[in-house]
Amino acid sequence: MDRLEIIGGSALSGEVRISGAKNAALPILAACLLPEGPMILENVPHLNDVTTTVKLLRRIGAEITFHDGVRLEVDPSRVAHFEAPYELVKTMRASVLVLGPLLGRYGRADVSLPGGCAIGARPVNLHVMGLRAMGAEISIENGYIRARAKRLYGARIVLDTVSVTGTENLMMAAVLAKGESVIENAAREPEVVDLAETLGKMGAVIEGAGTNTIRIQGVETLQGVNHSVLPDRIESGTYLVAGAITGGRVRVNRTRPEHLEAVLDKLSEAGASIQVGPDWIELDMRGERPRAVDVRTAPYPAFPTDMQAQFCALNAIAAGTGTITETIFENRFMHALELQRMGADLVTKGNMVVSRGVKHLTGAPVMATDLRASASLVLAGLAAKGVTIVDRVYHVDRGYERIEEKLSQLGAEIRRLPD
Ligand code: EPZ
Repeated sequence: MDRLEIIGGSALSGEVRISGAKNAALPILAACLLPEGPMILENVPHLNDVTTTVKLLRRIGAEITFHDGVRLEVDPSRVAHFEAPYELVKTMRASVLVLGPLLGRYGRADVSLPGGCAIGARPVNLHVMGLRAMGAEISIENGYIRARAKRLYGARIVLDTVSVTGTENLMMAAVLAKGESVIENAAREPEVVDLAETLGKMGAVIEGAGTNTIRIQGVETLQGVNHSVLPDRIESGTYLVAGAITGGRVRVNRTRPEHLEAVLDKLSEAGASIQVGPDWIELDMRGERPRAVDVRTAPYPAFPTDMQAQFCALNAIAAGTGTITETIFENRFMHALELQRMGADLVTKGNMVVSRGVKHLTGAPVMATDLRASASLVLAGLAAKGVTIVDRVYHVDRGYERIEEKLSQLGAEIRRLPD
């Protein structure tokens, strides 16, 4: 397995271009199963999770062509299999996103249950509950969700927990259902809005995406369209934290500052000076040691759970005591144990990490356990004195495009050690 070698201690400086959002690209790729004709997607990030999704769509029968390595054409006209097999779903739980489109357009889907992952049990009961409310016959057998429906019909669905992919799956099931659907307590994430905008271009009738009530009028058919995937707010936040943790100055380009308000507020509270343009953000922490901050994750627009591991690393070297409270997932502190091995002075108490900032961390061999934990360890390695080797880098590659190239552009001493 590839590893990353990081020689820490240099203040980062420079600009990086942000890639398309993983968590928008995945549902939008699934939505390509819905229309009568081909879709053209731009700004799709080159990530392992995208490769996995492309493999899954091809297995279902969609024809996928990369045009000049940038534009992705997905033609669903030969879809003939309606299964997401365990060997694919176990590597990427977001495969469950084909459930809604397959059921809504083709009336059948056999999707392996994703099972838990490092950060939690991550059930899909809300996805199943909503589809049943729309008239799907669903049985769970041999580890698969077996779903059938002659035609889904509109329903009012109340999600008792805010679920991003739950909202996305139900929205994609509802756009071709008969009648009106209402999703209450819907997720408000920008990625949900990007999916809704794509579906709207295809001819779907959707109101309220971005609010906690989404209203969908089912239509008979949808058309293939072009869409450019929105920039990745979590990648943006991660590179800004890289600037903050190393006391440098970093500018992220081709991003959407309005999607990062809660994160930018916390970076300012930590002492960073932040400038914002229409599609760029610049952070300056030169000559400053960050101040520790208190962070509590919650659904958008509150502070994103996908940024808490990165702030755990920032707090580790910040002045003062900071707390990180995780309210979304039950086990998302694996990075904390590895940070301790680098000299962080922190304790985890239930769903909270309390850390007293130390002057500096020391490099060490560490192991990544999930996508954002691995980002946190890379950030800690950039700030630490000495050499850090991050193992199991495939976690990083799931969500960060060419991370060592982009960090090297910012002056980091980082290289990939192939297996
Ligand atoms: C999405 O996961 C993201 N993944 C995650 O990003 C992100 O951390 C998460 O939303 C929260 O923002 C994608 O968009 C592909 P949820 P998702 O359903 O949809 C509970 C990353 O790092 N729940 O919003 O799977 C669940 O257990 C990844 O890029 C149910 O109980 O998360 C959790 O406690 C990690 N039943 C809470 O809801 C369900 O049926 C939120 O989960 C569904 C969810």
